[in-house]
Amino acid sequence: MKALILVGGFGTRLRPLTLSVPKPLVDFANKPMILHQIEALKAIGVTEVVLAINYQPEVMLNFLKDFEAKLEIKITCSQETEPLGTAGPLALARDKLIDDSGEPFFVLNSDVISEYPLKEMIEFHKSHGGEASIMVTKVDEPSKYGVVVMEESTGEVERFVEKPKLFVGNKINAGIYLLNPSVLDRIQLRPTSIEKEIFPKIAAEKKLYAMVLPGFWMDIGQPRDYITGLRLYLDSLRKKSSPKLASGAQIIGNVLVDESAKIGEGCMIGPDVAIGPGCIVESGVRLSRCTVMRGVRIKKHACVSSSIIGWHSTVGQWARVENMTILGEDVHVGDEIYSNGGVVLPHKEIKSSILKPEIVM
Ligand code: GDD
Ligand code: MG
Repeated sequence: MKALILVGGFGTRLRPLTLSVPKPLVDFANKPMILHQIEALKAIGVTEVVLAINYQPEVMLNFLKDFEAKLEIKITCSQETEPLGTAGPLALARDKLIDDSGEPFFVLNSDVISEYPLKEMIEFHKSHGGEASIMVTKVDEPSKYGVVVMEESTGEVERFVEKPKLFVGNKINAGIYLLNPSVLDRIQLRPTSIEKEIFPKIAAEKKLYAMVLPGFWMDIGQPRDYITGLRLYLDSLRKKSSPKLASGAQIIGNVLVDESAKIGEGCMIGPDVAIGPGCIVESGVRLSRCTVMRGVRIKKHACVSSSIIGWHSTVGQWARVENMTILGEDVHVGDEIYSNGGVVLPHKEIKSSILKPEIVM
């Protein structure tokens, strides 16, 4: 079975992290976002993943080379010379997606995180006999997504409305699709939106079906949602009694600590924290609702909450970093500095406090 991941886009809403790597390579819960997806696809028997990409394919491929071997899965790129939207890339990768088997293939948005119930989705797809299946989930704020109106008992989609201005329903497109090869006959090789141009047509022919996603789901393409997504992801690890979660006197709630990270004495870590490989957290540090990426050092008695600390940055002693502060790669926050929602570009040194949310260039 094959799968295509929609990787394109510049990930501007996750800047400054995406100034260092393409969005799918930004770490989430201690591994690049895209690996969560590739592992889930591998687990249900996908043998080839096509990355639909419109910039920096070599960065992605170099990075994923190791995982290709480790996971025994073929990873290739299909590169656009102009952004083709969310459907055009399928037309471009047509030859890679179709083979003699006539099997359906998966399509995933690269910035969503969930429990990936892909096996259940295959069963669902077989059971309804339609042309395409999409996963849906309930959200409080449907207007930022694609809204799906469906017949509850059968899953038949009556309407698909992308980013509706008026309320149509609260079940939204989760960005996980299983499509028959015939869907490709509906897509032309030009910039096209699968949500605006393709799904509404398949729905009008009553061949589009939706399955309500069991478990959590989040589009983590924006800092606030990324932080919420980590909480949901860790909650789900807890429900599965995952041995990956840390325990001990210094740990509060759900915390993930890479085995190569070092944590000093008298720290209080949690809830909803991920500490990446090679990090050093010195004594007396307080961390909550935050992600600390590979190679970061948090010095004595610093306090970090509701923030993301990019790769190889340092936070000085007694510093206080909070309220959606996002530090890019290799940022150095001085001792006793306060950051209230600072968004700091890579390689910066912060010598004076950031008192209100702002971008520091
Ligand atoms: N290759 C390629 N080329 N990929 C693209 C392009 C492009 O031109 N444009 C967007 N993508 C990729 C993005 O990287 C992302 O993985 C996916 O397509 C969806 O694009 P987003 O920009 O993240 O869209 P969205 O979040 O506003 O809305 C989409 O996702 C929602 C769920 O998170 C839609 O699919 C909504 O219907 C859905 O509810
Ligand atoms: Mg998105």
